[in-house]
Amino acid sequence: MQNRRYVIRGGIEGRERLRLLSEVMGPSTRALLTEVGVPAGSTCLDVGCGGGDVAFELARTAGPTGRVVGVDLDETKLDIARREAGQHDLSNITFELGDVTRWKSDELFDLVYARFLLTHLPDPGGLVAVLRRHTRSGGVAILEDIDFRGHFTDPACPAMQRYVAWYTSSVQRRGGDPNIGPRLPGLLREAGFDDVQMKLVHPAALIGGIKLLTCITLENIADVVLQDDLATEEELRQTIDELYTFARDPHTVIGGPRVFQAWGRNTDISA
Ligand SMILES: C[S@@+](CC[C@H](N)C(=O)[O-])C[C@H]1O[C@@H](n2cnc3c(N)ncnc32)[C@H](O)[C@@H]1O
Repeated sequence: MQNRRYVIRGGIEGRERLRLLSEVMGPSTRALLTEVGVPAGSTCLDVGCGGGDVAFELARTAGPTGRVVGVDLDETKLDIARREAGQHDLSNITFELGDVTRWKSDELFDLVYARFLLTHLPDPGGLVAVLRRHTRSGGVAILEDIDFRGHFTDPACPAMQRYVAWYTSSVQRRGGDPNIGPRLPGLLREAGFDDVQMKLVHPAALIGGIKLLTCITLENIADVVLQDDLATEEELRQTIDELYTFARDPHTVIGGPRVFQAWGRNTDISA
């Protein structure tokens, strides 16, 4: 299944980037799930689940009496996710190929979740409305997404500034919003969720983590940067080299995108 709107490389390379992303975001996502609560026996839906890292977390927390469905339109990532679910002995999880904006289900879920998906969609409000229809009365929707304006470095790094400009332009040209983070609470309220709450996480590092992820994300958007004529091959290669050199220096600081976490409940007793 093709996704021409998604600016980041999919498939095996895309899955490996998501593995690193999950190492960076794992602690704050786990803290979020603990704060909101995932009781044993919960039924959970993870839309745009990618390689399934959060779906695995939900499956462990919901336990054997709970169940998780992950939906994504990248078949390669889903194949890897199914294999890894088996390796983790998680039998309460299924992965379905589909476009979440059109995906249908007969069941209502206790918890619906989306991380770093809405930023890529031309109609994020439409998807949050779809998510509300998948949430049972009393159930919760949890969203995590980025504000790309949050990037910073010390000292100044022109390669980083070029990367942020290219990424921003690539996402915007495909109808997405790279700075969607602060809109999440409003999107939940507009879709009819109540008791909306929000937290902010900001990954920054001296070594590894978000520093490496930034370099890998630049490599993974190279195809669209060239396709959109945002840079020549030479400028792109130089920028990748400069960003790696900057990131590998343990005396430099890189801060990534601000990550907004928002959640709300479906309190409609007729749902
Ligand atoms: C940045 S990744 C995040 C993956 C995962 N949520 C995580 O945090 O590790 C975004 C994922 O959304 C998927 N995606 C984008 N648009 C989609 C759509 N309309 N329907 C289903 N999946 C979609 C992509 O294939 C990709 O795997």
